[in-house]
Amino acid sequence: MCPAVSLYLLIPLLLMLANCANIGVVGDDEANILKSYWNSNYNSTPLSFNEWISGHHARLYMVDAWWSQRNSSIHINIFTTMTLDRIHMLEALCQSYMGPVSAAVYISVDVETYPYDFTSSAGGRGTRRLKSARRRLGEGAPELAAPIADAREKLQDLFTRMEEQSTTIDMIAAALRSNNTPPCCCQLKMALMAERLADPHLAYLMPTNAMRNVAMLMVNTPLSIMLDVDLSFGRNFNELVQNSTWINGLLQGTHGAPQPVMYIPPAFEAKAHHSLNAAKIIVEISLQGGKQTVSSLWKLGILQAFQIDICLHCHGAFNHTRWMESDVPYTVKYTQGFEPWGILNRFLDPGYDERFRGWLYNKQTHVEALAQKHNFVLKVLPDVWAVHRPHKKIASRKLAKPVPDNVKETNTDVMEMLKVITLPDGTNASAYSSYRKYVDNLRYKARTALAARQPYEPQLNPQFLHCKKALPWWGGVR
Ligand SMILES: *[C@@H]1O[C@H](CO)[C@@H](O)[C@H](O)[C@H]1NC(C)=O
Ligand SMILES: *[C@@H]1O[C@H](CO)[C@@H](O)[C@H](O)[C@H]1NC(C)=O
Ligand SMILES: *[C@@H]1O[C@H](CO)[C@@H](O)[C@H](O)[C@H]1NC(C)=O
Ligand SMILES: *[C@@H]1O[C@H](CO)[C@@H](O)[C@H](O)[C@H]1NC(C)=O
Repeated sequence: MCPAVSLYLLIPLLLMLANCANIGVVGDDEANILKSYWNSNYNSTPLSFNEWISGHHARLYMVDAWWSQRNSSIHINIFTTMTLDRIHMLEALCQSYMGPVSAAVYISVDVETYPYDFTSSAGGRGTRRLKSARRRLGEGAPELAAPIADAREKLQDLFTRMEEQSTTIDMIAAALRSNNTPPCCCQLKMALMAERLADPHLAYLMPTNAMRNVAMLMVNTPLSIMLDVDLSFGRNFNELVQNSTWINGLLQGTHGAPQPVMYIPPAFEAKAHHSLNAAKIIVEISLQGGKQTVSSLWKLGILQAFQIDICLHCHGAFNHTRWMESDVPYTVKYTQGFEPWGILNRFLDPGYDERFRGWLYNKQTHVEALAQKHNFVLKVLPDVWAVHRPHKKIASRKLAKPVPDNVKETNTDVMEMLKVITLPDGTNASAYSSYRKYVDNLRYKARTALAARQPYEPQLNPQFLHCKKALPWWGGVR
């Protein structure tokens, strides 16, 4: 083909792609509506550890929101939460999926170092605090603390790259190359959430479930799946979500009658003995390859079911041998502690219990409520799998086992969690052991109530409840 002709053929293609990218949703509107509804109920009082363990809900301020301008006909919206140090994982997740991805990004603000409120225009106590802080420092308060301004810039940068890449160069490249090229990228939606803290240890216990609820609010497709940001689906997932037969099967199953289904894909990870670099390669092969590849790596003992070595009941219920052989969805019985990720009807999701901060029991309690209170059926998807990307452990996880002194000293997060605090009843204990005591007890009570079919309600904050009622893509539909 001569160059002139191929260029001639390219022009309509380029125009078509450029136009496709601009149809549909005006993203800015959604972002602004969400931000204003969420912040209209914001309470700027900083949270203390003792308030949290006395049952106070999270108070999160939405600093900014981003909403992809690109329209998509994909019915499954992935939602996730993260701290800013995982931005590269969000990028990897976004590059691996062609549908919508919503992320709530957490940043904590220690009021000792930054006394200002976020909302200089808000009435009442917030304004008085801001004014007195300004007087004390003899200067105008900067609009945002430097770390927040920095976070906002990083997210803006990621957002711009994901929007631009997917509308131009990569789409064109994908169209010109074989149809095996993975499409790039997701339609990214993000909210930067800041929390004012009166105790520094709370910064290491992210309000995981409150953040998941924020991310859930950014879902506007019929189906949703909460996924940790360090996971991605195998690339065949992109073909499945475009297959209307497959999607219709999910839409019917998740709809509710006689019982709603949550469709659960198994998750895998590289075995713990692999070096970080080897693990990264294994993960990439498992994501790019087919089910046969995953199956072989698993049989060879290179891949393992997610965390199966430290928690058999968390993901064991899948029966991975059966998954390898199966090509139709199959039902597994809920067993205590089972905590799969899963695709469900977003309107049937009861929300995540916000009393759970940190890393323990947050997802387990949600799955348990789905199965025990809302009568969800758990069906394993034979053709979908997720893979966990390797990374360093967070403080509360490192502390699950006794920590050697030399490790303690080099980890400020660990040192902070080992500090002794005085609890509401006057006793003294480390922040870590107080955290464990509180969440272990919460977990015990929730589990007992759910097993006995007694009343159990997740804690949902007033900002979330207001948004769920008022946001056009939530309230208007039910
Ligand atoms: C997005 O595109 C689809 C298919 O082209 C169309 O049916 C839908 O109305 C569009 N959505 C919006 C909000 O424009
Ligand atoms: C679409 O999904 C259905 C149901 O899983 C499957 O039978 C069919 O082969 C798929 N079609 C394509 C083109 O992959
Ligand atoms: C797991 O599945 C395999 C293959 O279908 C089956 O033989 C085995 O009995 C199952 N194991 C359990 C514990 O159900
Ligand atoms: C706890 O610690 C505080 C301050 O460090 C101390 O004043 C108080 O007496 C301690 N309480 C108990 C019960 O040991």
